[in-house]
Amino acid sequence: MTKTLITVEELDFTYPDGTPALLDVNLSIGEKEFVALIGQNGSGKTTLSKCLNGLFKPTRGNVIIEGINTRQKGVIKQLVTKVGYVFQNPDHQLFNRNVWSEIAYGPRNIGLSEAEVKERVEEAAQVAGVHEDTFDTHPYFLDKGLRQRVAIASILAMRPNTIIVDEPTTGQDMRQSIEVMNFLRRLWKEEGHTIIIITHEMRIVADYAERTIVLGQGRVLLDASTREVFSQPEILQETYVEPPQITRLSQALTSFGLPRDVLTVEEMKEAFTQAT
Ligand SMILES: Nc1ncnc2c1ncn2[C@@H]1O[C@H](COP(=O)(O)OP(=O)(O)OP(=O)(O)O)[C@@H](O)[C@H]1O
Ligand SMILES: [Mg+2]
Repeated sequence: MTKTLITVEELDFTYPDGTPALLDVNLSIGEKEFVALIGQNGSGKTTLSKCLNGLFKPTRGNVIIEGINTRQKGVIKQLVTKVGYVFQNPDHQLFNRNVWSEIAYGPRNIGLSEAEVKERVEEAAQVAGVHEDTFDTHPYFLDKGLRQRVAIASILAMRPNTIIVDEPTTGQDMRQSIEVMNFLRRLWKEEGHTIIIITHEMRIVADYAERTIVLGQGRVLLDASTREVFSQPEILQETYVEPPQITRLSQALTSFGLPRDVLTVEEMKEAFTQAT
């Protein structure tokens, strides 16, 4: 196991109106992991991710981020440099008058010098593929894919180890989805970030996430390798999740000698050749 970045112990979270959203969540997230957080609508994914960056404080239990308990007072400025959270809709996150100030906002807010801010902005923009031609543009005039990249760049500028992206592919076509997912994969593989995605698209989970955490009614139902998770369709059903079609096909054909945990078309071809 790699170095632990985030530890969640016996976490309950209840909204002020009394809605219980998380119940007895225990997990830990390590360095350089690629994790998918899945589960039906209302199962607690967004609530959990907001606990994982300290935005929400536990009702019971603890969340420890790189040694800092999120219950401590006055730690939010430290926490924003550890875990970045990209909102489902980048428009809820972008509020500055141009791309440059958007990316510079976080570094300025933690009191870095203007020279450091400049360095951070240029670095983050480059990694996120935000060209300097757009620096003076109002984020509103960019297409959705680029707005999302600006949102990600503004997170990268804080140099967090962990980046949580809520629904990276919703509202995007196939090409844009692959583009953003390959970009997240690059941040994981080449830049060494831990990536946590929240998604309803099981193909994306199968193609990109090494580990999958399944939530159902605020509880962790499964937490294992993506392959192991998708080979347990009965448990997934409790939270109205179905494995990707290719996995379901292999599960329907186990009597013909196919394994239950095929994740991709390539694996299917291989398993099929071996079975016949
Ligand atoms: N601000 C809030 N006040 C009260 N209850 C809330 C609030 N936000 C979410 N909830 C409730 O908390 C539970 C968990 O919601 P959450 O948004 O974390 O689910 P989710 O898994 O992210 O769902 P989705 O897939 O629809 O985004 C649900 O019962 C939801 O209705
Ligand atoms: Mg959500």
